[in-house]
Amino acid sequence: MLHNRRILLGITGSIAAYKSALLARELQRRGAEVRVVMTPVATEFITPLTLATLTGHRVYSDFTEDKNKGLWTNHVELGLWADVFLIAPATAQTLSSMVAGAGDNFLLAVHLSSRCPVIVAPAMDLDMFQHPATQENLGALRSREISIIEPDSGPLASGLDGKGRMAEPNDIADALDSWFADRSPLQGKRVLVTAGPTHEPIDAVRFIGNRSSGKMGYALAAAFAKAGATVKLITGPTQLTPPANVQEVVHVQTAQEMFDEAIASFEKVDIAVATAAVADARPINPSENKLRKNELPDAISLEPTPDTLAAFGANKHSGQFVVGFALETDEGRGSAQEKLKRKKADMIVLNTTADQGAGFGTDTNKVTIFEKDGKTHNFELKSKAEVAQDIVDTVMNSLQP
Ligand SMILES: Cc1cc2nc3c(=O)[nH]c(=O)nc-3n(C[C@H](O)[C@H](O)[C@H](O)COP(=O)(O)O)c2cc1C
Repeated sequence: MLHNRRILLGITGSIAAYKSALLARELQRRGAEVRVVMTPVATEFITPLTLATLTGHRVYSDFTEDKNKGLWTNHVELGLWADVFLIAPATAQTLSSMVAGAGDNFLLAVHLSSRCPVIVAPAMDLDMFQHPATQENLGALRSREISIIEPDSGPLASGLDGKGRMAEPNDIADALDSWFADRSPLQGKRVLVTAGPTHEPIDAVRFIGNRSSGKMGYALAAAFAKAGATVKLITGPTQLTPPANVQEVVHVQTAQEMFDEAIASFEKVDIAVATAAVADARPINPSENKLRKNELPDAISLEPTPDTLAAFGANKHSGQFVVGFALETDEGRGSAQEKLKRKKADMIVLNTTADQGAGFGTDTNKVTIFEKDGKTHNFELKSKAEVAQDIVDTVMNSLQP
């Protein structure tokens, strides 16, 4: 859930400030973009240089950039940039200043001007934490819909033992992850994903298939589930283990079975994603027995299979969102956009084997996403898990009013 999230990390003057370096790292490892703002006291606990090096961005702790030249730092812009303002650690002093609406340091001015949600991870000695003033301040912040990541209990820097240590960086990142998941536009949405190839029988043992591995569809099912959706995965034959977080998995063999299962589920889903490489045609009258060598026909007559994506587009009711895939062997942009219209999809994801590392069987993919309203999103070559996240993010953005 932290992929592509813009997190403004506020650091205040607590001994736990050293953990903020690990926190910034962990948030970045999970795909977030992190900028740091510090109180002047915090810079005595950990240097801005450390945070600037880790995040790759300058750290903000002062209202002015160059007093002599009259250059000032725009606290309003930072608050507007962020998806969330996470203050970790948050001292008793900063909590109290936030309640009072003080703006006498740069971090507090950002707090007052930010439009994004604010989350605090308090860190202090147990008596400071238990003090009625601190507890009342936390209550006041809660009533302003500021989320509190509760401190842990254990040995404190003061030598005392009790509740007050800042939650561990990994736990804070988990809490942030759940926070975004709870607010995800995909929370509670029902998503149908088709994946893998289909096998169209020639006889009892032979079939016509294709080289789809199912990796892209499985990665998408996992990414939608992670974003809070309830996912049903309909999969053709693959070597893969279905993602553990997917609620329902149905295994099918043929295009007809894929179609029947998908159409039966379609009415009840909010989003349908047709990733499967469904065969366009199947042998007419396949033999129920294995054909002997001398019985094999010179030619196999084919008939068209039902088109799952076209049926989604044709039966779509208002509020349903349909995503198709176009696999091309050439540049493919024109045919992908044409497919978007013809199949009445809301979004088409183009991948082409002309791009090295993209398409069937690989662990990577390079996609371009075309939206119904004409928007186009070009992505670099990435792992299929990252590509799935990009697709889920694009769907989420498209669903948001
Ligand atoms: C070594 C040391 C450790 C401190 N650790 C904490 C702490 O964990 N939590 C806290 O609320 N205050 C702590 N303080 C006190 C704050 O630094 C002090 O209240 C300061 O005014 C906080 O300013 P700020 O919130 O603007 O960063 C500590 C002070 C010192 C000297």
